[in-house]
Amino acid sequence: MVTRDEALIADPVAAWDAAAEPWDEFVETGLDYWRTEVHGPPLLAACGEVSGKRALDLGCGQGWFSRQLAERGARVTAVDMSATQIANAQRHEAERPLGIAYHQLDAALVADRWPAESFDLVTACMVLQDTPDTDRILVAARRVLAPKGRMVFSIVHPIASSPVHEWVREEEGVKGAMAIDRYFDSGPFVLNWTMERLTTHWATPAWHLTFSEWSRLIADAGFTIDLLDEPRPTPEQVVQNAKFESATRFPFFLVFGLRPVR
Ligand SMILES: C[S@@+](CC[C@H](N)C(=O)[O-])C[C@H]1O[C@@H](n2cnc3c(N)ncnc32)[C@H](O)[C@@H]1O
Repeated sequence: MVTRDEALIADPVAAWDAAAEPWDEFVETGLDYWRTEVHGPPLLAACGEVSGKRALDLGCGQGWFSRQLAERGARVTAVDMSATQIANAQRHEAERPLGIAYHQLDAALVADRWPAESFDLVTACMVLQDTPDTDRILVAARRVLAPKGRMVFSIVHPIASSPVHEWVREEEGVKGAMAIDRYFDSGPFVLNWTMERLTTHWATPAWHLTFSEWSRLIADAGFTIDLLDEPRPTPEQVVQNAKFESATRFPFFLVFGLRPVR
């Protein structure tokens, strides 16, 4: 459910700090099956071979994607602006050490913290739609990336973050078409995490950008797009989990692969 709440929009750090505990439970219990089954694997695939690479994971949250990279042999540094998210990530690292270095830091400041060309891969799993600073973050990521490095990130698909996006319910609540409106009204909104499967509900701010705005920010930061993927469930996954059916008809996620332009 999408609403506006000016206090939440004004302070994303406080919103993600407050969400840290239910977020950790959501991810760790597997209730966020969209990440484990639908958008997470294509994000990893888009990164290519990561073994031995110096990876920087932006907006790492409690570290789920950072761990995916480290488990595949990457040397991972990870940042998040939220102290409580980083505390959870560090707790997971203490419980199962993978050598990941976590730092509480705004992703827009990574070029102030690390020298140019410090990383071979910069990633962000479902982060860049959650910040008003995507332009600054892309510029900072470009600076710390080696000339032959790549930036790979997933976001909520710009169609799916349109200010109006609602399933038209058919008989007995069956999802019919998706009604989309106000697509060109980019800007902030509040995402209310009120799905039935959650025991605790929370809310976080997000920023809708159109496809052309994403493309312009990427080019302005000095990147070219080398991969676009729109992850969706396979028919076999729909058999396993009927909730995936609607995502075979509508694009919920988008993965970008970027290369620095010389
Ligand atoms: C949807 S969560 C994703 C967390 C993690 N990447 C994952 O996939 O589980 C978004 C995260 O981005 C972080 N975030 C948003 N804007 C940020 C910024 N400017 N700098 C650092 N972290 C940021 C939030 O604190 C939150 O932990």
